[in-house]
Amino acid sequence: MTDKLARLNANVKGQEAELELPVYKGTYGPDVIDVRALTKSGLLTYDPGFVSTASCQSRITFIDGDKGQLLHCGYPIEQLAEQSDFLEVSYLLLHGELPSAREKDNFIHAVTRHTLVHEQLAEILKGFYRDAHPMAVLCGLVSAMSSFYHDSLDISSAPHREKTALRLIAKMPTLAAMAYKYALGQPAMTPRNDLSYGGNFLHMMFATPCEPYKVSPTLAKAMDKIFLLHADHEQNASTSTVRMAGSSGANPFSCIAAGIAALWGPAHGGANEAVLKMLDEIGDESRIDHYIARAKDKKDPFRLMGFGHRVYKNFDPRARVMMQTCNEVLAELGIDDPQLKIAKKLEEIALRDSYFIERNLYPNVDFYSGITLKALGIPREMFTVVFAIGRTPGWISHWHEMLSEDYRISRPRQLYTGPARRDFVPLTER
Ligand code: SDX
Repeated sequence: MTDKLARLNANVKGQEAELELPVYKGTYGPDVIDVRALTKSGLLTYDPGFVSTASCQSRITFIDGDKGQLLHCGYPIEQLAEQSDFLEVSYLLLHGELPSAREKDNFIHAVTRHTLVHEQLAEILKGFYRDAHPMAVLCGLVSAMSSFYHDSLDISSAPHREKTALRLIAKMPTLAAMAYKYALGQPAMTPRNDLSYGGNFLHMMFATPCEPYKVSPTLAKAMDKIFLLHADHEQNASTSTVRMAGSSGANPFSCIAAGIAALWGPAHGGANEAVLKMLDEIGDESRIDHYIARAKDKKDPFRLMGFGHRVYKNFDPRARVMMQTCNEVLAELGIDDPQLKIAKKLEEIALRDSYFIERNLYPNVDFYSGITLKALGIPREMFTVVFAIGRTPGWISHWHEMLSEDYRISRPRQLYTGPARRDFVPLTER
């Protein structure tokens, strides 16, 4: 696999030694040093947060953080956002190639006819408080799905894995809309097979039994593009969580529920909701400088939500497309949202500030998505749920890829800094 070596001089079991470690080169990206041999030498690597760690090989997505590039199976996100659609990208992530016209039709037909969920899930939904956060509801319902579908849970079977992928991609919007309607106290809306994926979600969210929701093609396309922009992002925290859970052979629905849980955090998928909260708090352009100062103050936990990224040290290419989509939606709806003005002013000021420039902090995908979703009428607590719908094909494609090849259970080690061995002290002597 390689003739390149990295050499490490280290003390191995009391002896100075030079270790030769294989170096691998991918299609793109940094070379990687295979450190698996270190264990035999009694050494470990140390990389909290996995900043410098490649956890796996993957053919699905590549991010060039310096150039601000995102490729799905080689295709740039800008071209996919412009010329493709969410279900076609979902197919691409799952199968590694764009579908033919027939393959695309068959995939859309299959997804469309798996959008219904088991009536028992509606019963499980009733166990939640009405004001439960929809991410808690979604996580619970997807985890509950692991008690269904015993016809396709042989994770060693590729057809079973593909059927599970189809079911999850198809049912996420239905479950998400159920969570929203439940919070409103309205009846859930049945999915419609005559609508597009994005249009169907808007229908299930905003139609009622008393009145249909007229799906605007522009808004349905914007919804589809928002899902597409979130479809996959290599080994981010939630995808790595899905891989980790999958590596134990766990039920795929439980693995995706684990991914939903990891996505919820404000440092990850919860950032879109946090951006709106931040813009609310800033309230007016005159207060932007104060918040920029807070974001730079090490003693202040406040961070500019929607800014910065572990990998991107340039613009997140998705953020540019999202801003364009935001403008299109606001124009279509004739909305002049003052929060958009604050966001654009915040971006302009931050990008001129040396603190952000030195740290390569740019807007990420979450910076404009919240304003767009708000304009579509989607409530703030549903923003990360929308992110989860979009990321489902990415999560399940990484799970499928891992299980399609030889894999081992993920089990990181640690640097132990606790007490040395000591004897138990009986209570009477403490
Ligand atoms: C997503 O991984 C993915 O691919 C994720 C994602 C995906 O599609 O799956 O792209 C989706 O999660 C996007 C990120 C959404 N999160 C946010 O917008 C929350 C705000 N951003 C930060 O919390 C932060 O930038 C992270 C979490 C995104 C990245 O954190 P890192 O890589 O651990 O970077 P860091 O915290 O070490 O920051 C480096 C420096 C620090 O300053 P110094 O210690 O060097 O002085 O930059 C500063 C940080 O304090 N910094 C910020 C900042 N982000 C980083 N300072 C102010 N505001 C910020 N937003």
